[in-house]
Amino acid sequence: MKNIVGQAARSANFWDRPYELEDIWEAIDNGSHILLCAPRRVGKTSIMYKIVDEPKANYIPIYIDTESADSEAEFWSKVFNALMEEDFIASLKTKTKNFWDKIKSIKIASITMDGVEFGDGKMLDHKQAFHRLIKDLDHDKKLIIMIDEFAQTIENIIKYEEPKNAISLLKAHRELRQDQKFSQKVTFIYAGSIGLESVVSKIDAIKHINDLNNIKVPPLTPPEAEKFTIALFQSAEIKINQTDIDYLLTTIHWLIPFYIQLITQEIKKIYRREQKLDQTVIDQAIHNALDNRNHFESWQSKLKTALGKNEYLFSKEVLNAISNQKETNLLDIMNIASKHNLDGNEAKDCLHSLIYDGYINNNDNNKTYQFNSPILRMWWNKNVAN
Ligand SMILES: Nc1ncnc2c1ncn2[C@@H]1O[C@H](COP(=O)(O)OP(=O)(O)O)[C@@H](O)[C@H]1O
Ligand SMILES: [Mg+2]
Repeated sequence: MKNIVGQAARSANFWDRPYELEDIWEAIDNGSHILLCAPRRVGKTSIMYKIVDEPKANYIPIYIDTESADSEAEFWSKVFNALMEEDFIASLKTKTKNFWDKIKSIKIASITMDGVEFGDGKMLDHKQAFHRLIKDLDHDKKLIIMIDEFAQTIENIIKYEEPKNAISLLKAHRELRQDQKFSQKVTFIYAGSIGLESVVSKIDAIKHINDLNNIKVPPLTPPEAEKFTIALFQSAEIKINQTDIDYLLTTIHWLIPFYIQLITQEIKKIYRREQKLDQTVIDQAIHNALDNRNHFESWQSKLKTALGKNEYLFSKEVLNAISNQKETNLLDIMNIASKHNLDGNEAKDCLHSLIYDGYINNNDNNKTYQFNSPILRMWWNKNVAN
């Protein structure tokens, strides 16, 4: 297993997530459509690639990232392009010959706001076109269409196009899912690092997604994290003793594979030069990891682009306060809210998004808030708060 930092982990570099994969496969087998949620970098995309790389029999998975789509038409283009993509079609040949035969003969001339024009001159709206594409799929085969960063796409459409287009997209998907024939052939997995619910509730469209089966991807459990750490150090050929593993994992605290990989990588760099590994080396490695701006900056920039001015200034000041004091109570947070002209409900919505998106939690005591990750707290404190 190589130490992968940043890219989705695949094949031999994928550390198994058996519980999460079982949760997902069980929901797929039950015929649900899934909303896969977790903050960024928890490992959603890696899990989806695992499904692509090792599907169960009779399932045909396809992974589509729609983050860069800013309009309804762009979203559908990405979906149709993925389904019409040469490698994907070629892979169908051995799995579903009938479908392969049909789909390879279909041509798409253009995809516009109004729908899809096929090579044979037929013009259909996006939903009907989608139907047309999959209608010849063998009855015992099922497509798993994984749409990554779906909430981001919806947010982009609200912002750069119009809320009504976002609603129309959500509605079309809801109708597809409710169509029994369609649902026998297709399972949708919508994934994303920002909360689809909070994005959709802004345009009052929760009713269009409340049929989805929510599956959360949690951090690793402490025993899993320990095994993962041992495996990483083994493959780096560095000896680490139990006390140092405990210290490393206690310090990381929020045990997502990403932070374990990131700090291990920094420990390796120090070890290469100094041939030693102890707690001061671990502290130094964490300190060095904070210099990787590109790993952390999105935590701030996403807030800036997703929130209105007052909400952003409020959220930033709350995070600054928590990063300074390690925890902050609700009363202080409400004082910050009134400073930025937010009422109680608006402030609570913001807090809820910060929790949902993986910044903070109030697990120990529901009136005090702390960062999930001490590493992110240190980065925020050094780079944003001060
Ligand atoms: N199962 C895994 N095995 C090994 N590394 C992982 C795994 N899941 C996540 N990672 C690490 O976390 C990083 C982010 O993973 P990714 O799947 O892109 O998360 P997300 O899609 O939730 O943002 C990867 O670059 C890798 O370092
Ligand atoms: Mg991802």
